[in-house]
Amino acid sequence: MAVTIKSEREIELMRESCKILAEVHAKLGEAVMPGISTGEINALGEQLIRSYDCVPNFLNYNGYPASICVSVNDEVVHGIPSKDRILNEGDIVSLDAGLIYKGYHSDAARTYPVGQISDEAAQLIAVTRQSFFEGIKYAREGCHLHDISNAIDAYCGRFGYGVVRDLVGHGIGTSLHEDPQIPNFRQWRRGVRLRAGMTLAIEPMINMGSYQVAWLDDDWTVVTQDGSLSAHYENTVLITKGEPEILTLLPGMD
Ligand code: MF3
Ligand code: CO
Repeated sequence: MAVTIKSEREIELMRESCKILAEVHAKLGEAVMPGISTGEINALGEQLIRSYDCVPNFLNYNGYPASICVSVNDEVVHGIPSKDRILNEGDIVSLDAGLIYKGYHSDAARTYPVGQISDEAAQLIAVTRQSFFEGIKYAREGCHLHDISNAIDAYCGRFGYGVVRDLVGHGIGTSLHEDPQIPNFRQWRRGVRLRAGMTLAIEPMINMGSYQVAWLDDDWTVVTQDGSLSAHYENTVLITKGEPEILTLLPGMD
């Protein structure tokens, strides 16, 4: 499938979908604290999404059984929330959420500290976030897709972190996953030329140790093979002729 270019009308709908998701994320971030269960975070997320008359796009996606992916510590992505999984002081937790507004999908992820965390864990979260911003320096018309991948990889490599290779970012629009796939690690081809009107979910997944991952027996939860911590940061981005528009980030929000 070719990469879709959104019309001005579609871009407006993407903007609204992503703005709602940013508000959902802000509220979910406030709920992260020692003692809350990952199941409670999921329930809150689903309730928030539905309160905006939107639909959680992860729920039942390829059979995924929840609305919010909640991934703790060495869990990279796609953790399945549970009332029995309680967050403890010192944990880090990645919340990945998405929704559909008038047929248009949004997708974003954040990693949060639970109470006080180690300096090493805080650095992993900060570097993962910053790697997204290093990548999107090239998210503009005229650059090539893999300029983004290479910038993310180069930045994380400076810290000795492992850049996950088995999962990638993606185009997004009337489907959650559209072309192109967006790797976060070094590529030897340029990839597609970026054009104004493309909407991309750019999502570095970064491990403190090796890049290698494994799947738990639930067939969803992705964990680091070496048990090291992992962080995730994702926004839905609009390519323009100039600076990219980060659609899932509201002014003054992180
Ligand atoms: N943000 C993730 C992605 O882009 C989450 C979707 S996977 C799901 O693939 F199955 F949980 F929906
Ligand atoms: Co995504």
